[in-house]
Amino acid sequence: MSEPSMSYVSKSVLFPTEREKLFEKYKDIIETDFTLNRTLVSFQANKKEQFFRWFKYKEGFSKKLIDYFIEKYHPSNGHILDPFAGSGATLFAAREKGWDSTGVELLPIGIYNVEARLAAEKISLEKFKREVNSFWKSFDKITSDNSVIQHISITRGAFPEDNEINLNRYLTCCKKINDSSIRKLFEFAAFTVLEEISFTRKDGQYLRWDSRANRSYGNTEFNKGEIYDFIKVVKEKIEEIIFDLSPNQNLDLFPKEETKTELTDPKILQGSSLEVLPGMKSDIFDFVMTSPPYCNRYDYTRTYALELIFLNNNDDDVKKLRQTMLTCTVENKEKLNYLENLYTELNRASDFDFINSIYFSHPAMSEVNDILSKLNELGKLNNSNIPRMVKNYFYEMLFIIYEMYRLLKKNGTVVMVNDNVRYGGEEIPVDLILSDFAKIIGFKIKKIWTLPTGKGNSSQQMGEHGRSELRKCVYIWEK
Ligand SMILES: C[S@@+](CC[C@H](N)C(=O)[O-])C[C@H]1O[C@@H](n2cnc3c(N)ncnc32)[C@H](O)[C@@H]1O
Repeated sequence: MSEPSMSYVSKSVLFPTEREKLFEKYKDIIETDFTLNRTLVSFQANKKEQFFRWFKYKEGFSKKLIDYFIEKYHPSNGHILDPFAGSGATLFAAREKGWDSTGVELLPIGIYNVEARLAAEKISLEKFKREVNSFWKSFDKITSDNSVIQHISITRGAFPEDNEINLNRYLTCCKKINDSSIRKLFEFAAFTVLEEISFTRKDGQYLRWDSRANRSYGNTEFNKGEIYDFIKVVKEKIEEIIFDLSPNQNLDLFPKEETKTELTDPKILQGSSLEVLPGMKSDIFDFVMTSPPYCNRYDYTRTYALELIFLNNNDDDVKKLRQTMLTCTVENKEKLNYLENLYTELNRASDFDFINSIYFSHPAMSEVNDILSKLNELGKLNNSNIPRMVKNYFYEMLFIIYEMYRLLKKNGTVVMVNDNVRYGGEEIPVDLILSDFAKIIGFKIKKIWTLPTGKGNSSQQMGEHGRSELRKCVYIWEK
């Protein structure tokens, strides 16, 4: 076992004693799992693995990671929950092992991915191929004056003109396809190439714009390289889909023919877990495998803005989604009143009071909130809403943890992937605080696995700030 480092201890004059105490409390169960290397955890390293090579949902789990944890902690099947289901990796991987699976996902992007995958499983490949042939003949007859894509302020001008015209022609042509699963797959092919055919690149927390789009953001010139022709790339995508769906590709994409009929399709509920979970019955799941948004300012609604408008979301829809997300950006507003009303309406006001009291009496949480407020007053944070974001991130996660506990059967297990973060030089031990919340609620904290190489430890950073490595973790909690 490798010795965990007390890396959250700040070098600042504000002594983080409550975090030190938490570290002492959990240090014996923090351990590096050397199998959790990049190939196992990260989507990018597993491109050939699955359906997810069709659409790059960068936040997605690899199938191997899910297989690994199910085999390790719950080899016999049952009912699995992923309250932040993304594009459904947990649900599909578990289904293949014979599990019933339920997911909750707020963004229509993840939901659309799941639907497209199910559509791909249902179609007749021969029929799909025939449709491809006739499709391009009808496409040639479509004129350019159909605007299926309706832009919003943050996407306007994202596509070169030719690509925008052809994308609209293509989507108009899709409407003529009668078979709904085949139509879905055609539309999905266009959905997957939006970034490639645009002036944008998904980059860090935002969508980065190529200077050729004439939307100047800051002074830095950015050239993303080739902007691909829509017709060329969508044809290639359709070829890729056909290739992957052809028998004997062995790409680990879909359930084997012989087991297909015995498996139950994953159920995915669109909405916020903060709202959906409280309405579910208690003691129904055996396992939770999930990765919530990290407390890292990553704004999914901006990164995936093109995909959101493709799915007919207007400005108001996108703003609403941004606010409904589990707080993870500096724009998110507090949800305390909303949660109080929700629990009161469900006749669960006492649960609300209990959860609320855990939060406001938690010493390490208070310490983090106080330190961030002080750093803010001193002008040490690069955005003044960071304290609000951190405060609300933990507040909302506490509700999620409470609900996961309630929804799990006795001995049920949670496997949660999450990263620690740092603001104004202060490390926030997300792993320790969330695990401590879980313990107060009743979970046994079995393990905090850390990934062998974290982030934030480049020699340059270490030199500048004396920083230590931030833990990237997988928490294992048992009811
Ligand atoms: C780290 S990603 C999970 C990715 C997933 N493990 C996968 O394999 O695709 C977190 C997900 O939580 C979703 N999310 C954010 N806030 C949510 C909420 N309040 N309710 C449900 N899902 C939410 C995001 O849209 C995102 O897809």
